[in-house]
Amino acid sequence: MQTKHYKPEWDSIESHPLPAWYDDAKLGIFIHWGLYSVPAWAEVTWELGGEPSDEEWHAHNPYAEWYLNTLRIEGSPARAHHEKTYGKDFNYEQFADLFTCEKWQPDQWAKLFKQAGAEYVVLTTKHHDGFCLYPSKYTEYNSMNYGAKRDLTGDLAQAVRAEGMKMGTYYSGLFDWTTHPHPRLRHDVYDSYNRTYAFADYSYNQANELVDLYKPSILWNDIGWPDKGQGDLPSLFAHYYNTVAEGLINDRWSVPWCDHTTAEYLTGQRSLEKKWEMCRGLGLSFGYNQNEGDETVMSGEKLVRLLCEFVSHNGNLLINIGPRADGTIPEIQVDRLMKLGAWMQKHGEAIKGTRIWTQKQQDDLGDGRTVFYTVKGNDLYAIIDGLPVGHHALDLPIQNGRVSVDVPDNYPVHVRMEHYFG
Ligand code: GLC
Repeated sequence: MQTKHYKPEWDSIESHPLPAWYDDAKLGIFIHWGLYSVPAWAEVTWELGGEPSDEEWHAHNPYAEWYLNTLRIEGSPARAHHEKTYGKDFNYEQFADLFTCEKWQPDQWAKLFKQAGAEYVVLTTKHHDGFCLYPSKYTEYNSMNYGAKRDLTGDLAQAVRAEGMKMGTYYSGLFDWTTHPHPRLRHDVYDSYNRTYAFADYSYNQANELVDLYKPSILWNDIGWPDKGQGDLPSLFAHYYNTVAEGLINDRWSVPWCDHTTAEYLTGQRSLEKKWEMCRGLGLSFGYNQNEGDETVMSGEKLVRLLCEFVSHNGNLLINIGPRADGTIPEIQVDRLMKLGAWMQKHGEAIKGTRIWTQKQQDDLGDGRTVFYTVKGNDLYAIIDGLPVGHHALDLPIQNGRVSVDVPDNYPVHVRMEHYFG
């Protein structure tokens, strides 16, 4: 197969087709891991989109990876926690030496993700705090020089690929709190980023560096892209597609082009026409938050139900885990991934490699029962959630909708309606 050559022009970039592997995959693992994994602390407040105001969100931010920002807000419980635990004079940057990852076994992580049924993994190579999880030649502030003294991105990419999964890179392109004033409120957040050409170049160079070093299957940018560097994006994107033809670019670059859109908790786009991806934590945070437990970390049943809902509506689920600073994954998160994996073993055929049924995505059957539809070839899949344990004969509200199912537990079950479409 001859691969297409992309030119650094929007017309050429916009001819990039959605790679089928991604639409087939349905499930990815997002990893938020960095210096914020050391304090691993945030208040347990709202799902993004459910907060009363921006001010409240930032002072009581449930995202543990925003620790540095939250702790700058006078009177915030995060600041009180920080001063009590580490002392007034302890700078966030000092966490770099404590981010040791000494128990980290990348191949064990990769095996777990594979077992969960994931097809791709996306790692925070640089979050808003500016610390890089790879040996960037553009900053000393990275995991090769401090703490772990390892190329965390490279080692993980290798382990993930050895399990037959794809590796993507998250990069915070607009925010880098080492180079601009720490924002407090959302309007400040967007007004106060570094507007210099030097910073635009810095993001451009690092994004290219990630492409060249890791050939990521997804170039997952966050927040936006510096205004002064927007004219360079066609060059970056062309270089990326020419390096990774089956790669994807998400929708957080401040330009109209993307391969897929993103949703986050209660925010973002979900369209039947344009492929989308939900990213969210198992609880309220992306980075590990030691304050979260069973009350907010979702159950295995809920996790599976969300996957079915999103997939039937043209979405992928990029479910996030927040590992500890020593490289272990908190038990509650492992437990949820294992539950998801056990379900995928039995019902994954109704998820992976499917497409949406354009005519109908779900039906409410009453009594808390819902059916989600997916399609593969000529077969229709009905995934039924909310049935009590036992044997059931049902009439789904579709043509030839008579089905029978055995329900062994509280998880959704699938029925394959063979040759439904001829
Ligand atoms: C947001 C947050 C961030 C998180 C991300 C994941 O933009 O700022 O902490 O990494 O979304 O989608």
